[in-house]
Amino acid sequence: MANFEVIIYQKQDGIGYVTLNRPQALNAYNLQMRDELYQVLGAIKDDPEVEVVIFHGAGERAFCAGADLTEFLTAPSPIIARQVRWERDIWGLFLSITKPLIAALHGYVLGSGIEIALCCDIRLASEDTQFGLPEPGLGIIPAAGGSQTLPRVIGRAGALDILLSGRWVRAEEAHRLKLVNRVVSRAELLPEAEKLARKIKTHSPLAVSYAKQAVMRGLDLSLEEGLALEAKLGHGLLALSSTPDNRG
Ligand code: COA
Repeated sequence: MANFEVIIYQKQDGIGYVTLNRPQALNAYNLQMRDELYQVLGAIKDDPEVEVVIFHGAGERAFCAGADLTEFLTAPSPIIARQVRWERDIWGLFLSITKPLIAALHGYVLGSGIEIALCCDIRLASEDTQFGLPEPGLGIIPAAGGSQTLPRVIGRAGALDILLSGRWVRAEEAHRLKLVNRVVSRAELLPEAEKLARKIKTHSPLAVSYAKQAVMRGLDLSLEEGLALEAKLGHGLLALSSTPDNRG
């Protein structure tokens, strides 16, 4: 894989580690990060050796403080800058990954930062984490799926409260709102994420992937359609599991 500058991608024992790596700018999401992340996500999707992925941020202060404001303001126009982002459809790629994705969050988790976290399946946060969507205060709306993923995770009222007011939410409240699954100390953050990843990895990757698909795809269906989807996936899994190559 290519050498990256603003993303560190490592894999060990079936776990992929994606580190947003611009700590001097609080890991703000810039075009280079988008391009590198796009390549990394493609690799994660296609690499059978990677079964679970952990996302986190380099440095002490942030997972990600949102879109890079310097770049944003120097782009030809916000409209063109955003169009480029949509064309690459990094968020579609993110959400199409059927492997479990864990976000290990600390410090500032703003704008694109919270949106990356929302593309993950399980979110752990250290006690010092602060979440926010500053976009409306900048005269824009989220462009990385946040207006759709946040209400799907915490419900309409909570999402609108955070989005429209622009207020920031600390870890404990984020836990109450079910934006994060667990709050841990900073020292425990990565060990907890790894413990969870290793636990998931004890299961068949195929069963894990099918279970994720059943939940994720089912969320957009009626109960009846969802039950039909579950039955279809269940039968498909059984058929695949009984073929010699897929019993692991
Ligand atoms: N884009 C580009 N650079 C950013 C950034 C962003 N979104 N967020 C932080 N940085 C940079 C700062 O410019 C600063 O760089 P410098 O040391 O070269 O001056 C460095 O990261 C540290 O940030 P700083 O603002 O000095 O830290 P702070 O503790 O005073 O404030 C925040 C932290 C998160 C409150 C503040 O940086 C902030 O509001 N950032 C923007 C958040 C935002 O609106 N994101 C866009 C969402 S669409």
